[in-house]
Amino acid sequence: MYKLIAFDAYGTLFDVYSMGELAEALFPGHGQTLSLMWRDRQIDYTRLVTMSDPSAVGSKHYLPFWDLTIRSLRYVCKRLGLGLTALIEKQLMDQYAKLSSFEDSLMVLQEIKKRGASTAILSNGSREMLATVVESNGLKPYLDKVVTIEEVRLFKTAPQAYELLLKSFPVKKEEVLFVSSNAWDALAAKWYGYDVFWVNRLGHPFEEIGEQPNFEGNSLSKVLEVI
Ligand code: LAC
Repeated sequence: MYKLIAFDAYGTLFDVYSMGELAEALFPGHGQTLSLMWRDRQIDYTRLVTMSDPSAVGSKHYLPFWDLTIRSLRYVCKRLGLGLTALIEKQLMDQYAKLSSFEDSLMVLQEIKKRGASTAILSNGSREMLATVVESNGLKPYLDKVVTIEEVRLFKTAPQAYELLLKSFPVKKEEVLFVSSNAWDALAAKWYGYDVFWVNRLGHPFEEIGEQPNFEGNSLSKVLEVI
């Protein structure tokens, strides 16, 4: 019944938490805290930029996700008192550019294509960083489109960001299943009007506001059971 299955990128198809291992090697004893705070600050910055000027032509405070990712890393290292040299920053960002996909990402996309639905990424990521990570994981042949919010210069959870899927594919809202491992992203997509699948790999509770997701599973493969 779904004509388009659209995926969030970071944390959903690509394993951002693997950054913790490299961070731990570079800053022993701080890897986990650094990677969690880094991720939170990165998303905080997307919200600050978007909410402070949610204009139709995009936020005047807009910076590409790549830049926000570097700046949030710098902030968190300062906050934790960790000496971030240019070399360490480069090592971390090089790994970020080529994050691994989860073990089932490729298979799930292939299977969806086999079943005849369209596939897409809808991500906060900038076009270039998405192209690199999609390419390096061999996912490109199985994605009909990689949609980035760069087009509207407003990050998720702005409705204009979720709307991009309807502008990119000839589908109705109810024909879209949006898949994210970020509860806030799944919640906002549901608020926008899509059915959502929340990939809850860590067994976390869902948000305490809004509606529950239509579907939940502990891996990406579980998406195949509901489409
Ligand atoms: C993305 C982040 C939010 O890919 O995971 O949009």
